[in-house]
Amino acid sequence: MAEKNIILTGDRPTGRLHLGHYVGSLKRRVELQNSGKYDEINILIADDQALTDNADNPAKIRDNIVNVVLDYLSAGIDPSKTTICVQSALPALHALTFYYLNLVTTARLSRNPTIKAEIQMRGFSEEGLPAGFFTYPVSQTADITAFDANVVPVGEDQLPMLEQAREIVEKFNKIYGETLVLPNAMIPENEFQRRLPGVDGKAKMSKSLGNCIYLSDTSATVKKQVNGKMYTDPLHLQISDPGHTEGNVVFTYLDALCTDEHFAEYLPDYKNLEEMKEHYRRGGLGDGVCKKFLINVLEETLSPIRAERAKWANDIGAVYDIISSGTAKAVETTNRTLARVRKAMKIDYFVDRSIVKEWESLLKKADQ
Ligand code: TRP
Repeated sequence: MAEKNIILTGDRPTGRLHLGHYVGSLKRRVELQNSGKYDEINILIADDQALTDNADNPAKIRDNIVNVVLDYLSAGIDPSKTTICVQSALPALHALTFYYLNLVTTARLSRNPTIKAEIQMRGFSEEGLPAGFFTYPVSQTADITAFDANVVPVGEDQLPMLEQAREIVEKFNKIYGETLVLPNAMIPENEFQRRLPGVDGKAKMSKSLGNCIYLSDTSATVKKQVNGKMYTDPLHLQISDPGHTEGNVVFTYLDALCTDEHFAEYLPDYKNLEEMKEHYRRGGLGDGVCKKFLINVLEETLSPIRAERAKWANDIGAVYDIISSGTAKAVETTNRTLARVRKAMKIDYFVDRSIVKEWESLLKKADQ
């Protein structure tokens, strides 16, 4: 088993990626990609996982594959360094899932807090819960182990998935011998980046709530979301009133995004965010100034992404070639792992004819 540093992450292609995805994972992936510290970096477009609760709407998944890849490429994922691949085209993942399903109990799956929350969010009744959705943590374990990933950069909500994956790996290795790499979760260091709220202050950005800022939004839309919808401090009525920075979305976004250089460029009255916050808390700093600064910070983050996206959007053939060749490479990688797994489980009957001898002597022994 290789002692390499291998990354695997993934996304469900159910929609365009937004700022929450960017600060929570995408930006980090680009940094990890460019750090030169990893032997292999893989990003999986988890279309099969997306189908586990969208079986009646495969067109939505199909359409969003291109959106998600465009978001990756425009945010700085470089296909010469990172392999981008599509889950449904990797048959080894399906086989691994089937074997791993025997190593977890339904009781253990029911206890997975992320699954529990997602079942509730989707309003699945016990009778209406698709078995595929219920067991997707097992398929996600297949994703991770098939690439021999030891590092899995994910959001906090995915920690229970990683825990479950580690349990399956440990169980597999115990029963069949050391075969699979034990994965580790890597979550963002900056707590504000872990979960960016919606512009309206709701816990999460969500398409149905209309509280997202998408990487593909125009600058006019971004401005509208900030000026028109962004939640600040309802007690801060007059500019002179003391204000609260906690729970104030403008400051939460600044916490996640702004640097001292942004102050030097756009708001030189303050050296850094701490100074600006102090002024806001004291009173005398209006929301308009804060929002204007945030819009500048957002524009500086988003405009290069937007420009890259426009370039790639003009060459969808090239985008197709990238995921097609990434997927071909991933087929090889994941098939190698599946072969190793079948060997460890002694179900690799057709690799060579050695089992003929084994069966012959078994039958001879039975005859004696
Ligand atoms: N479940 C992950 C999410 O919803 C997506 C995902 C699928 C994933 N396969 C993965 C993440 C493998 C990390 C590793 O965000």
